[in-house]
Amino acid sequence: MLASHATLRSAVRVNALLFCAVTAQILYRPPHKAFAAQISEPVAEGKRLWIHSGCDRCHAILGTGGHLAPDVTRTYAVRGEAWLRAYLADPARHATGRRMPNLRLSPSAITSIIAYLAWASQIGTAGWPPAPQGDAGEAPRGYEMFLAQHCDACHTIQGRGGQVGPDLTQEGARHSKEWILDQINNPRNHRPDSIMFSFAQLPEPDKNNLAEYLASLR
Ligand code: HEC
Ligand code: HEC
Repeated sequence: MLASHATLRSAVRVNALLFCAVTAQILYRPPHKAFAAQISEPVAEGKRLWIHSGCDRCHAILGTGGHLAPDVTRTYAVRGEAWLRAYLADPARHATGRRMPNLRLSPSAITSIIAYLAWASQIGTAGWPPAPQGDAGEAPRGYEMFLAQHCDACHTIQGRGGQVGPDLTQEGARHSKEWILDQINNPRNHRPDSIMFSFAQLPEPDKNNLAEYLASLR
């Protein structure tokens, strides 16, 4: 039996609606993740200084630049403004082995560079940069991971690092490797109100090296 006109008409209407919805979906561009509108005067000046001072010879932002030093795309988010201000004025105060030269930046240059780093850290990178990979597929060793993941922002080992979390110089005397792995994956298993965030997203071999390294510290 033929469908009635009314049924046909409503089917056409539904189709037309669907067509509009799909078209709108295709044409819609999400707001640009680089926050172009937020490129203020200090951000632009910071970017100029970033190139002019040669920061990009050693550091990359979004993969562009040198690879002698950490990628700093997310550094502002991890370290925060006060840490960056102190660090850029005197990198020696936080030397972890490799040396960042003191580039004698003026306070106003530091302010601009921080504005630039703050801007860069807001770019939606979906978790990029990933944890650094070692050579030939080998996972980075424990201490490298400790630095690469900025655990040292909160924890000290042998006098180097932050004071927010416990000193880990003798962590192996306090906890087993399994316990430490659990802490890395879910700090709230041990302390429901922990301010340490979970690092569960890291590749298993990397977490394993990290836990093994910390468990070896006595
Ligand atoms: C000659 C190479 C070199 C140059 C040039 C250089 N850096 Fe660095 N930078 C390093 C190294 C190496 C480290 C890591 C030091 C460490 O871990 O102890 C570092 C660390 C940093 C960090 C801290 C990253 C973190 O979270 O631990 C920031 C921020 C930074 N540099 C910003 C800058 C800025 C801004 C400039 C330009 C004004 C610059 N760097 C120029 C080599 C360099
Ligand atoms: C934002 C600060 C912060 C960062 C970053 C951080 N932690 Fe923690 N961590 C803490 C605090 C605070 C504690 C104390 C216990 C708690 O609150 O969970 C802690 C506890 C620990 C402990 C247990 C220490 C003990 O003996 O009680 C280990 C092990 C540990 N962290 C490892 C790590 C590792 C590895 C990383 C990097 C992958 C890391 N933490 C990053 C803040 C931090």
